[in-house]
Amino acid sequence: IKRIGVLTSGGDAPGMNAAVRSVVRAAINEGISVSGIRDGFLGMHQDRIIDLDRAGVNDIITRGGTFLGTARFTAFKEESVRREAIENLKKRNIDALVLIGGDGTYTGALRLHEMGVRCIGIPATIDNDVHGTGFSIGFDTAVNNIMQNMDRLRDTSSSHHRVTIMEVMGRHCGDLAVVGGIAGGADYIIAPEEPFVKEDLFSKIAQAFASGKRHALICLCENIVNADALASELEATTGIECRATVLGHIQRGGSPTAYDRVLASRLGDYAVRLLIDGVYGKCVGIDGTTLIATDFEEAINNPKHSHVNEYISLSNKISL
Ligand code: F6P
Repeated sequence: IKRIGVLTSGGDAPGMNAAVRSVVRAAINEGISVSGIRDGFLGMHQDRIIDLDRAGVNDIITRGGTFLGTARFTAFKEESVRREAIENLKKRNIDALVLIGGDGTYTGALRLHEMGVRCIGIPATIDNDVHGTGFSIGFDTAVNNIMQNMDRLRDTSSSHHRVTIMEVMGRHCGDLAVVGGIAGGADYIIAPEEPFVKEDLFSKIAQAFASGKRHALICLCENIVNADALASELEATTGIECRATVLGHIQRGGSPTAYDRVLASRLGDYAVRLLIDGVYGKCVGIDGTTLIATDFEEAINNPKHSHVNEYISLSNKISL
């Protein structure tokens, strides 16, 4: 391999830059050149590709987001579009790709792999919803963002003796809600892995307030129930004042934590080593502290390794 192309795709995640930096430096150390592809598959199709050298990735380890840019480019599902994008790689002598993102990125990578492009995927999404890794890059930073914001909500919620609902992201995965909720000391966590029974929430809140509790925090995963509607219904049913906050994209930004920087650095280097060893068509990940590689097909078609059930039973023990 003489030249590797690197791209970030899908929702940005803190630590993507650290992963790109690691890929660039690990490759250059082995005498391999690196091209950075702007805005994921979109930039690959539009031939927006730059040369990256060691200095080109200076000072990015501290930065959230992705300096290469990202996009959700649905037209990449079409084979003709992918063929045009592959022509751009050939024209620039890019003979392998490292693709950093979530399961949408892996699907694009699998299609490219099937068309003969050497690909390795690196998991990066705050949702932690990809198979083939215990943790994806960005999850830890987002959990910390959730925790810090829940601490802030606790201040105002306790001052006003209210119930506060905080909605977090996760798409259809409860990891952010459950792990962030435990870290923030949530009194009740609503995650898609466990059926949500409104009456259970309302009666637990009512009982807790009846026995002296003066405020409560609820951590809610997105795409389950409307946070404002739930707050109104809780207030109407229990008579206890309730407010809702949707944390939104704030949780996706900011400087990556040490954990995410180290994970990204390890996975970036591992991706390059696999390509050098002639291993393609896989995504890298972490199992405990061990680096692993999984076929794209397996990663896409299987549920992720989840810690959520174990965490839900913990949360049930230590919350309301
Ligand atoms: O996949 C990451 C994620 O942040 C999800 O948690 C969320 O549902 C989605 O992206 C939001 O997407 P967008 O960036 O298109 O608003």
